[in-house]
Amino acid sequence: MDVIVETNPQTASQAGTDLLATLIRRKPTLKAVLATGNTPMDMYSRLAALKNAGKIDAGQMTVFQLDAYLDVPDTDPRSLYGWMDRSFIQPMDIPATQVHRFRETSDDPHGDCVRYADTIRASGGFDLAVLGLGPNGHLGFNEPPSAADATTRVVTLTPESIISNAVYWGGIARVPKVSVTVGMDALLASSQIILIATGAHKHDILRRTVEGPVTPDVPSSFLQTAAKVTIITDRAAWEGDR
Ligand code: F6R
Repeated sequence: MDVIVETNPQTASQAGTDLLATLIRRKPTLKAVLATGNTPMDMYSRLAALKNAGKIDAGQMTVFQLDAYLDVPDTDPRSLYGWMDRSFIQPMDIPATQVHRFRETSDDPHGDCVRYADTIRASGGFDLAVLGLGPNGHLGFNEPPSAADATTRVVTLTPESIISNAVYWGGIARVPKVSVTVGMDALLASSQIILIATGAHKHDILRRTVEGPVTPDVPSSFLQTAAKVTIITDRAAWEGDR
């Protein structure tokens, strides 16, 4: 694992932007699965600024949705696809034909997950996974316990995730309780993984991710076993409140 410890969330975002830009320039046809959540948003904005300045062209990239709440349509402000669309797909001008996604409303979410996993496999897997770090060590919505071979599937959110998401959705009752996620198997097989985690509130889980026992109880700890992982963090997350 490479760890880049930046001074603050802004410099961490810039470090992530520089790395993403390098990877896209090196392989314009990059196939990437991308997290939403708050942490990567500044990085995506900075990348879009590079694109608007003509310094990068992501038009050949293929983007895969990482996770979704079930039965939340794109028009709902809580939709994770809607969030990814606004924060990355549109600003980076990714053609719709190069976007793969979950169906968020479906009569057969289990079958959809199997088909989505087939699509990921058929495309040869991910060149890059950009991930955030859940307070319980979830990656995407691979909630604890999630084994390294956990597949792309329907997941019931843990109480901890529901509580942490409540701030976004205006209260616990409004948080969708069931989601779908790309599995640990496909994420860990990615040729490269960037995990971005900033802020003192991520300190404990980041430490457990990097140096704790590798266990399904902390799904992010499986990153210790992945091929190429770059953790981009800031002092507050890396060192805690010391
Ligand atoms: C979102 C996702 C989640 C978040 C994680 C951290 O698509 O996959 O796993 O990355 O919950 O969220 P933030 O960045 O808001 O702390």
